[in-house]
Amino acid sequence: MGYLHEELIVNTLKLRNRLVMAPVATEKTTGDGRVTNEHIDFYKEKSKNENIGLFIVEHSYISKEGKASPKQISVADDSDIEGLSRIAEVIHSNGAKAVLQISHAGSAASEEVTGMRAIGPSSVPNPRKVYFQRQCAMMTLKNCGQVC
Ligand SMILES: Cc1cc2nc3c(=O)[nH]c(=O)nc-3n(C[C@H](O)[C@H](O)[C@H](O)COP(=O)(O)O)c2cc1C
Repeated sequence: MGYLHEELIVNTLKLRNRLVMAPVATEKTTGDGRVTNEHIDFYKEKSKNENIGLFIVEHSYISKEGKASPKQISVADDSDIEGLSRIAEVIHSNGAKAVLQISHAGSAASEEVTGMRAIGPSSVPNPRKVYFQRQCAMMTLKNCGQVC
């Protein structure tokens, strides 16, 4: 266990220990993808006791058709930077580091959440989403460029 509490330096990244918090989708936006005070309270509470060296902040959608759930955080627009910075600041102020998990739900996205048709690597319905067995649109090269 002692080793876990040793500092870790990776190039310019210096972690106070080797304990990493796995991403946890908190579903704390109001539906618009924006960071709320509830997120700040959550990450403040988790980082306050100096237990964790690195936080992987919850998966956040990189474009609207790839939104996975109604209250997921958005990283799809420059206007999201301000709220996301607040999460980084609260984690940094407690001495830990933060990275953000970015995601695109692909064929697992539902029209009910996004208001848009899902796009994925093929038009085959997502086998894990049995409750909406509908085809998604196969991504074009242009789509790939927009998503990446
Ligand atoms: C409520 C909840 C939200 C989660 N959100 C994410 C997420 O945003 N991204 C992700 O990769 N994993 C997510 N996970 C998976 C966890 O990060 C973790 O990998 C999983 O709970 C297994 O952890 P364990 O092996 O320590 O039990 C979530 C899990 C739970 C229970």
